[in-house]
Amino acid sequence: MNHISQLIGCGSYLPEQVITNEELAKKVNTSDEWIAARTGIKQRHVAKEGEYTSDLAYEATLRAMEHAGVDASEIDLVIVGTTTPDRTFPSVAVRIQARIGMTAGVAFDVQAACSGFIYALSVANDMLRAGTAKTALVVGADTLTRLLNWEDRTTCVLFGDGAGAVVMRAAEVENKSSANRGILSTHIHSDGKLEDLLYTDGGPSSTQGIGQIVMEGPEVFKHAVRNLAEVVIEALEANDLKDDDIDWLVPHQANKRIIDSTARKLKMPQEKVVLTVQNHANTSAASIPLALDQAVRDGRIKKGDLLLMEAMGGGFTWGSALVRW
Ligand code: ACO
Repeated sequence: MNHISQLIGCGSYLPEQVITNEELAKKVNTSDEWIAARTGIKQRHVAKEGEYTSDLAYEATLRAMEHAGVDASEIDLVIVGTTTPDRTFPSVAVRIQARIGMTAGVAFDVQAACSGFIYALSVANDMLRAGTAKTALVVGADTLTRLLNWEDRTTCVLFGDGAGAVVMRAAEVENKSSANRGILSTHIHSDGKLEDLLYTDGGPSSTQGIGQIVMEGPEVFKHAVRNLAEVVIEALEANDLKDDDIDWLVPHQANKRIIDSTARKLKMPQEKVVLTVQNHANTSAASIPLALDQAVRDGRIKKGDLLLMEAMGGGFTWGSALVRW
């Protein structure tokens, strides 16, 4: 028998406040035309004052638990991918643990910037397969707008806030590749040498503040295109699959041009790519589970579909997950 983990439910949450490109253009020297043409973004959701990452994560969690039909007493692992915790400590994960009334098990955050959800999913997958836990809640949640310099048009137009969550369960199957649902593989990577291309100019130990995002956009773009092309090929080869075996590409939503480039590499038509960047902008660790939840709830993603998720973020960090839904 093979030990695998299965995704058994999903949920997501976006803050109510929406800021359109036109509204942003009243505050910084930009335009809807520029933002839409270069990124595909039309609007973003922004958390209101007093609304924190854990609040968004909690709402997404409740929806995922309801969708999966699990109770807090069944969950014994919570991993939150986030770069914007409410407080430096404790983690967002323990705050979620307390709010859902879970008393046993373990909860912690994973920090991998925009790859946070893929990293969290990968760690949970390994723990479930190893028997360390039986039922996991994996959340991607960020309020990246709190890290923005709203006068820097090269960064402030790109990001939004949100949260997405999945419930995962350990299972035993005879053959992993023919299992009717489950994670077939995860691959995660990092390269700390390129930190200067994307970082925050502060943090608890250096400035005792949180800092703001600094980015060499065109350089990040080039690395994203290259790393994501490599990681999707790595996922296919590891599973002996071909491009057209994939039913849905569920990518991190940073920039439509980066997504288009990965889709071209996979020879995937637009109709098989879940795209939310136009409405959400880049929600960092939240973007993949937000996109997944949207496509599951509107009926596009169906039981048994093969999904390829991929992300790249500050660090650099990048990775993929191949999932039979
Ligand atoms: N509005 C209007 N003009 C702008 C804006 C703006 N918001 N931002 C920059 N410009 C100007 C620049 O000043 C420049 O002007 P110049 O030619 O007079 O010097 C011109 O537009 C072109 O700027 P570039 O930076 O070369 O534009 P590019 O086509 O590379 O697009 C962008 C910039 C959108 C940031 C792109 O490089 C990108 O998306 N990079 C990836 C960044 C990213 O996604 N980061 C998120 C984290 S990592 C991840 O999630 C993958």
